[in-house]
Amino acid sequence: MSENAYFMQGDQETHRLEIKTDKEAVRSQALWAGVQPGMRVADLGCGPGVTTRILHDLVQPGGRVVGVDVVEDRIAYARAHYPGEGIDYVCADIRDSLDHLGRFDRVWLRFVLEYHGSKSFDIVRRARKILRPGGKLCLIDLDHNCLTHYGFSARFERAYRGIMDGLTEKTDFDPYVGRKLYSFLYDLGCRDICVQMTAHHLIYGKLRSADAINWTRKVEMASSVSGYAFPEYEGGYKAFFEEFTEAFSNPRRFTYTPVIVCIGTPPH
Ligand SMILES: C[S@@+](CC[C@H](N)C(=O)[O-])C[C@H]1O[C@@H](n2cnc3c(N)ncnc32)[C@H](O)[C@@H]1O
Repeated sequence: MSENAYFMQGDQETHRLEIKTDKEAVRSQALWAGVQPGMRVADLGCGPGVTTRILHDLVQPGGRVVGVDVVEDRIAYARAHYPGEGIDYVCADIRDSLDHLGRFDRVWLRFVLEYHGSKSFDIVRRARKILRPGGKLCLIDLDHNCLTHYGFSARFERAYRGIMDGLTEKTDFDPYVGRKLYSFLYDLGCRDICVQMTAHHLIYGKLRSADAINWTRKVEMASSVSGYAFPEYEGGYKAFFEEFTEAFSNPRRFTYTPVIVCIGTPPH
């Protein structure tokens, strides 16, 4: 895998991606984007195949979906767990040319541009080249990613901000890519651009186990990759993490993240 393709790695990442995916939300985003029977769809950064399979079901009868991911194990997992007549999985880096994939009615990029801050527009430009005439780009990503929690101490907030800044600097992660998607389509000269915004995370009250696993893993991984030194905590990372676990489990905390879905038709 090329350098910095995706910093969320490790044995449990495929499992985290699988359990955190809200299938109904994916389905509704795809319907909103006009995915329909007979279409050919590319799912770029497809993860464990959950989203690819949903897109596949929506294009039946007669449609085909190609799921693309840079992590070989993830593609192997997708082939084993989400196979189907009309689904192909390809291991490739979406920062490279995608011409070998053929042409599509929809090119779908969900929760992947956030990992490629400075290259995200280049990726979108390249993705546009594999559209059929009249085909649409579907860009879906978060804004204020990981940054909207309430109910934590001031020192926690400072440390958390330090982690996110370190992450951005070291890995090109962009917590604000959601707000840029519309301009990407605008700058490509797309017509019929439509934008939808809803809540992706909306966490209050008793903590669900899927949210606990997802956020524990995110905070562990982001802390380690960011290289942040936790000067606010005498006990360093361990004390920070204990405070996170306790405060996040408290039913009083409130967490939300906006998800922005943009579709548009680039000029041919
Ligand atoms: C957060 S997951 C999103 C999975 C899926 N799209 C979804 O909506 O649930 C991001 C996925 O993008 C993949 N990815 C990141 N950078 C990539 C790249 N440069 N080329 C191909 N896949 C990439 C990662 O391996 C990971 O599986």
